Amino acid sequence: MSVINIDDLEREAQVRANKMVWDFWAGGAVDLYTISDNKNAFLDYRIRPRYMRDVTSVSAAPHRLLLGTSYSIPCGLAPSSMHRLAHPDGELATARAAKSKNWPMAISSYSTFALEDAKAAGGENLIFLQLYVFKNRTTSQDLVHRAEVAGYKALLLTVDSPFIGLRYSDRRNSFQLPPGVEPGNFAGGRYAGPIDFAVEAKSTSRKSQVDTLSKEKEIKPNVVDSGLTWDDVKWLKSITKLEVWVKGVLTAEDAALAVDAGADGIWVSNHGGRQLDGCLPTLHALPEVVEAVKGRIPVHLDGGIRRGSDIFRAIALGADFVWIGRPVLWGLAYDGQKGVERAEEILEDEFKLTMALSGCVSVSDISKSYLTRRSTSLWSRL
Ligand SMILES: Cc1cc2nc3c(=O)[nH]c(=O)nc-3n(C[C@H](O)[C@H](O)[C@H](O)COP(=O)(O)O)c2cc1C
Repeated sequence: MSVINIDDLEREAQVRANKMVWDFWAGGAVDLYTISDNKNAFLDYRIRPRYMRDVTSVSAAPHRLLLGTSYSIPCGLAPSSMHRLAHPDGELATARAAKSKNWPMAISSYSTFALEDAKAAGGENLIFLQLYVFKNRTTSQDLVHRAEVAGYKALLLTVDSPFIGLRYSDRRNSFQLPPGVEPGNFAGGRYAGPIDFAVEAKSTSRKSQVDTLSKEKEIKPNVVDSGLTWDDVKWLKSITKLEVWVKGVLTAEDAALAVDAGADGIWVSNHGGRQLDGCLPTLHALPEVVEAVKGRIPVHLDGGIRRGSDIFRAIALGADFVWIGRPVLWGLAYDGQKGVERAEEILEDEFKLTMALSGCVSVSDISKSYLTRRSTSLWSRL
C-alpha cells in the first residue's frame, strides 16, 4: 500500500513493530485521554479561508529564523528516546532525514546513538539536545559539555517529567530494551553508577525507589532530579553558552516564570500524553502561553500534529514553530531515513496546500483571523 498520509505511516509501522515496542510508542499515561485530546483539540478550530488572492506561489518557509537558521517549513522532528527500536540506523537515519529535507531536529538524552554520532549525521539540522537533569549533576554537566563540543545550538530542558508517567501498557508488557539497543550517550561505563533509562518496568525514577537508592549510594544516582525548580534554568545557563529552552510548559504562570528564569524559548508540550493524563491539550494551552510570553521569546508546540492543517492552526494561534513526535517513529519503522522523509514530504505538501486554499502565500500571513473556534467544548479557567 502506498503511504499517502500520516495515518498510513502509522498503520505501516504497526505491522512492522512487535507488540511491546508498538505499545511503548502508542501508549501514554493512564487512560490515554490526553493523547486523544491533543489530536481532537485541532478540531475545535476551523479555518476561515479567503479567496481570490493570487496563490500561485506559496512559501512555507518559517516567518522567523530558528536559532539563526531558516528551514523548509515551521515544523521539526521532536526528541523521542531509542530510535533503534524502530530501525537499526536509529537516530542516524532520523538525523539524515532532517538534513536531506532541511528540517530541524532535537535528539533525546536517551538516544540509542551517541549525540556526537547523530550530530555528524544531521549536521546543522540537529540543533537541540533534549536534557533530563540527573541528581548526579556531574553527569548532566558532562552531557552539556559534550553538546557544546559537538556543535549543538541549544539545550531543551524537559520540565514535565520529575517522575516518569504511569504507563499501564509498559507495565503489563514488562517493557525492556531488546539486546543491542542501549543508551548511546552512556555506553562504555563512561559515567559512575548505573543510568536510569526511564523505561517503565525497570525505572528507578519513582520516589520510593529513588529514596532507597539515595540511601544506599554515596554517589548521587543518575536518575532524573525530581527536585528541579526554575532556579535550575539559571543554573543550566550558568554552566553553558548554549541557549536553554524549556519543554513541557502548559500554563501562562509557568511561561512567565520560564521567561523570568532566562529561558531562551518555550515548547508547549505535554510529552505526547505520556506524563500527566487529563492535563491540558497543547493547542488549548498555547494561547495563554503566547499571551504571557508577549513575544519576548519564541513559543513552539508539539502534540497531536498529524496534518498540514494542524501546523496551520497552531501557527495561527501564535506558535512560531511546531514539532512531531510519533510520526517520526512511524516513518523510521516503515522505511528508516526514507520513511521519515516521507512523513516530512506529506506534512510539507499538506501545509502548503492548506496555506494556498486559505489564501496565505507566506507563513507571516497566517493569523488568528483565519480561525473560528467552537466555543462549547473549550475549557475555561476557574
Ligand atoms: C516513544 C516516545 C519517546 C519519547 N521520549 C522523549 C524523551 O526522551 N524526551 C522528551 O522530552 N520527550 C520525549 N517524548 C515526547 C516527544 O518529544 C513529544 O513531546 C511528543 O511525542 C509529541 O507528541 P506527538 O507524539 O503526538 O507528536 C517521547 C515521545 C514518544 C512517543
